[in-house]
Amino acid sequence: MVDEIKKFLEEIEDFDPKDKNEVEDFRIRYMGKKGIMAELFAGLKNVETDNRKEVGQQLNLLKNKAQQKIDELNVKFEQAEITSSDVDLSLPAEPLELGARHPVSIVHNEIVNIFSRIGFTISEGPEIEDDWHNFTALNTPENHPARDMQDTFYVEKDPDVLLRTHTSSVQIRVMESEKPPIRTISPGRCYRNETISARAHCFFHQFEGLYIDENVSFADLKQTLYYFAQEFFGENTDIKFRPSFFPFTEPSAEMDISCNICKGEGCKVCKHTGWLEILGCGMVDPNVLENCKIDSKKYSGFAFGMGIERIAMLKFQIDDIRVLFENDVRFLKQFKSAII
Ligand code: PHE
Repeated sequence: MVDEIKKFLEEIEDFDPKDKNEVEDFRIRYMGKKGIMAELFAGLKNVETDNRKEVGQQLNLLKNKAQQKIDELNVKFEQAEITSSDVDLSLPAEPLELGARHPVSIVHNEIVNIFSRIGFTISEGPEIEDDWHNFTALNTPENHPARDMQDTFYVEKDPDVLLRTHTSSVQIRVMESEKPPIRTISPGRCYRNETISARAHCFFHQFEGLYIDENVSFADLKQTLYYFAQEFFGENTDIKFRPSFFPFTEPSAEMDISCNICKGEGCKVCKHTGWLEILGCGMVDPNVLENCKIDSKKYSGFAFGMGIERIAMLKFQIDDIRVLFENDVRFLKQFKSAII
């Protein structure tokens, strides 16, 4: 029987069919109910007991080889069929369902684009921050309401570890590690302990800008933000500054843009004022520069920050912030045509 097995092994190896039919005949010859394998296995009982185990193993090997050969040949002939002439390669492909970008990503990308064009780099930092980067270095005094448990999420009751409430923390990290001139924008997710409503959410995205160099003035800040407003909201957009207060800037201001929906006439969105509040800004407080070991006598700078959701809501006329985080496909697929 050992010689027979050897002979069949050679036969399997040399088998070189011209088509699928020959492969099928070969399969029946070896693997069929009355085929070679069945016959050989039936003959096993006549083999001497001492040799039976070894011959059995060789038979299994032979069976595997035959099956492997059949499988290989079938694949080979199937592929040949696919590439043969009955496939029309010029037919259009099945349409691919493409997803849409999220409105927050669309606005994020557009803002990155606008500021990159005037030389701002992009910097990112951790969402879980320490007190120093989120508050102390930013001149925010210990008794400031923003530090309250009601306003900030603290991690594991450790007052030193918190979810950042703004991306100004990234600016501290940049000022600590780089020397002026610094021109950077820091987009990212922030968290505040807010009651969720149509206008506020406990997490949102922010976008902050920072420019530090010699002789940077408020005029530079105004011109930079004017450029941004015109690029983002359109050429006819007007801007207006109102005095404000932030612990980390002095002087501080809030910037409004003329309502891009009613063109300043007054509507529901601008609460009939003709103006929309979009960002906070100011000249970086010298204390903040000194906290980051930057000489405040030599350098000055400006900073600004805005909420990406707010800008997305204005751009796409969305009146409830919650829809931005519900992942409802009926809402999201409306943004398919936005390319950025
Ligand atoms: N960090 C401020 C906020 O979250 C925004 C801001 C940034 C204001 C930079 C002034 C300068 O509201």
